[in-house]
Amino acid sequence: SEGVITIDPGFKNTGSCESSITFLDGEKGILRYRGYSIEELAEKADFLEVAYLLIFGELPTKEQNDKFHNDIKAQAVVDEDVKKIVDAFPKTAHPMGVISSLTSALTAFNPTSVNVNSEADMYRAIVKIMGKFPVLVAWTYRKKLGLPLDYGDDSLGYVENILKMMFRQPNGNYIQNRILVDALDKLLILHADHEQNCSTSTVRIVGSSHAGLFASLSAGISALWGPLHGGANQAVLEMLEAIKEDGGDTKKYMTKAKDKEDPFRLMGFGHRVYKNFDPRAKIIKKAADEVLGNLGIEDPILDIAKGLEKEALEDPYFVDRKLYPNVDFYSGIIYRGMGIPTDMFTVMFALGRLPGWIAQWREMRLNKEPIGRPRQVYTGAKLRSFVPLENR
Ligand code: SDX
Repeated sequence: SEGVITIDPGFKNTGSCESSITFLDGEKGILRYRGYSIEELAEKADFLEVAYLLIFGELPTKEQNDKFHNDIKAQAVVDEDVKKIVDAFPKTAHPMGVISSLTSALTAFNPTSVNVNSEADMYRAIVKIMGKFPVLVAWTYRKKLGLPLDYGDDSLGYVENILKMMFRQPNGNYIQNRILVDALDKLLILHADHEQNCSTSTVRIVGSSHAGLFASLSAGISALWGPLHGGANQAVLEMLEAIKEDGGDTKKYMTKAKDKEDPFRLMGFGHRVYKNFDPRAKIIKKAADEVLGNLGIEDPILDIAKGLEKEALEDPYFVDRKLYPNVDFYSGIIYRGMGIPTDMFTVMFALGRLPGWIAQWREMRLNKEPIGRPRQVYTGAKLRSFVPLENR
């Protein structure tokens, strides 16, 4: 016999690999990247440093950091023909569908990125996507608004330049706002990796067939799009807006979320691993107050979110199931304060998660992991003979 096959739906109790990148403790609500606490990194590091740490395993020295950034800048151009793909999309296309297509399309313009038989090849593919992805994010956003698809200013920092590429006026004007830069830098750090979540597992399994890095990342972006995963940050804002339209009636939505007949879930709540507060949600909640305060924005949605959190944390249904706010619950409120539209929130999640996906893909390839190919328990028809069409 082929031995016993155990089914574990959603892989709730299945480990897929050994990894030295990210440590999670769901009971205690602990998150560390390569041994550094997320609290320290969010406070003291910048996003590019954290990207280097996740991918290569150590915080970079000054020269390593400068070289990484310069190598990325040298790749921060996208073939003009990619604009023809952007043009082909309707303005109403969901940005996650656009950015996953553009990411996969990059292989066509960088064919050598598929062969990563050496660390040097791998490094070249990594700095290519770290340079080109922010351009694709900016072009995806500007396509929606009918703005020119152009570049920022590579004398700026990595995150500063992303904001400039997104928000510069057609006449080139752009006023740098330190509050927005610091807010985005912190958000991207908090989203940078999260061990074997749905999209990262997707990147690893696609990469395990030795498909190229860009194709593997495109698959991860598609997995992240779902409202149960990264798409939740958009769904949270839509839910909060609906509650606001309903005169702030959080009770109605709590009841819906507990009704087994109703598919509605309280978006931004619950987590497969965290059975305590998501440490990222705590930091983002605090940052939401600071950023909106610094921007002088009074957003009633933030108060609705806090009210909903308070109610859920006192409701036996949620308490019994250990459902706490997760990373997606407050992040959209900050993106909205920054002027980013709701359907771009998950693209911003992908921008943050990019170095984590890269790090996990690189680890999978360096560890020479076998191709991912699970088994099943067959429950279909027994052997039967073909019946010709005229007899059916
Ligand atoms: C992210 O995995 C990661 O690390 C992901 C992520 C990352 O950084 O990569 O952290 C990012 O995706 C965060 C999660 C964003 N998703 C949402 O906010 C969507 C709403 N949350 C859920 O749908 C749910 O909580 C999940 C998907 C996050 C987790 O689902 P599980 O682990 O499969 O848990 P489950 O669906 O089996 O729920 C257990 C119980 C069920 O009730 P019972 O059948 O036991 O009675 O809790 C209930 C569920 O109905 N439940 C909820 C709920 N989440 C779980 N009920 C109402 N509202 C919710 N949000």
